[in-house]
Amino acid sequence: MKKTLSLTLLIVLLFSALAGMASAAGPLPQGGGQEYTVQADDWLSKLAEKNYGDVLAWPVIWKATNAKAAEDDSFVEIPNPNVIEVGQKLWIPDEAEAAQFFEEFAAERAAASTAGSADITGELNVLCVVQVEWCEGQIAEFNKIYPGLVVNYVRLSSGESLTRLRNEAANPQFDVWWGGPIDSYIAAAAEGLLEAYDSPNAVNLRDPQVMKAADNSWFGIYIGTLGFGTNLNYLEANPGLAAPTSWDDLIKPEWKGQIMIAHPSSSGTSYTALCTILQLKGEEAGWEYMRAFAGNVLQFTKSGAAPANFVGNGEAAVSVVFSHDIVNQIEKGLPLQLTFPAEGTGYEIGGTAIVKGAQHPDLAKLWIDWALTPAAQELGPKYNAFQAPTVIGAEASRPELLEVNLINYDFDYCGSNKTAFVDRFTNEIANADALKE
Ligand code: F6P
Repeated sequence: MKKTLSLTLLIVLLFSALAGMASAAGPLPQGGGQEYTVQADDWLSKLAEKNYGDVLAWPVIWKATNAKAAEDDSFVEIPNPNVIEVGQKLWIPDEAEAAQFFEEFAAERAAASTAGSADITGELNVLCVVQVEWCEGQIAEFNKIYPGLVVNYVRLSSGESLTRLRNEAANPQFDVWWGGPIDSYIAAAAEGLLEAYDSPNAVNLRDPQVMKAADNSWFGIYIGTLGFGTNLNYLEANPGLAAPTSWDDLIKPEWKGQIMIAHPSSSGTSYTALCTILQLKGEEAGWEYMRAFAGNVLQFTKSGAAPANFVGNGEAAVSVVFSHDIVNQIEKGLPLQLTFPAEGTGYEIGGTAIVKGAQHPDLAKLWIDWALTPAAQELGPKYNAFQAPTVIGAEASRPELLEVNLINYDFDYCGSNKTAFVDRFTNEIANADALKE
């Protein structure tokens, strides 16, 4: 299946699925609900969309069918919501009952957040791709519930971390990979670098069809959209200029030598931007655009978020970065204006996975289970990370960052072409020999 999140889905993600369900609903069954027999190619979120106009309402059908199965043996209990059988009878509850089931489900998932244990000891090595502040904060929080664990981490950008996992495949040094767009996880899974794990908390995901690998080799833990961060002092000093509001603005002569972005070989942020352009414009026009764009870039950085800081400090005028990283710098007092391209922007689902051959696989499982809880996903803002969560029961701290025009980003396309597109960028557009740290 093509892994894309539709615009409607992302907008619905802003709110609890319950509120989204009522507002985005299609023909909700009335008067006590109805039976439905599973057909080929059905899955719960597809049926939720058909019946309630909202893919995120899938837990309602799951819960309602299991409730029926408890009292009527013509229904069969569904232990795993990702597996339904053709011919199986489901119960599609009416609006009032659906709302009740959803509320119950959300409360249950929130309550099921990992309790932790002081008795578990050992060492866990995390390959961390988000900002250092969040890596350290998240590890400290994990240590609060598992105080017996020593957790070490190394922070690397997405592309660098993928290279590291490839180089260490015969002797893995990391147990768990945390953060970075799933394009890299899709590429890594195809190369056999990840260990599948059927986490009991995957059931928390708002849309399991899109937010985890079908074989459970990776899981989505946050969502972020690409934006432009422009230095306000530069705009003030150049009254004829306005912050860019289109990808095409970035190739105008006035921004020559004034743009900063990371290099797609090291950075998942920059790779998301490259793959956004290739999808928006088509490959041929997209590569043409990238050539013109690179002509306006002052310097490519290693880390995806770094340009927001450099531009905030006046090294260049415009940064192309995930919008939450621009917000982070604004929060820290840097003079940046956040804008989005009106024709549509790309977005990431940030991932996590167990490394194949991990030395501490059981401890890595604890990390994954915890990362998929609402409690863990609501910690981001405490450490200046404003990505939106992927699990039911956790609220987005900055929902407005998703309320923008988004392209239908195709993760399978971008993941499976990652090596080829990065090589082409490096060979034909800009080599990566002298990246700014
Ligand atoms: O700074 C956090 C973040 O933007 C994440 O949302 C994202 O997944 C990651 O950085 C990408 O980092 P990089 O571009 O350095 O690979």
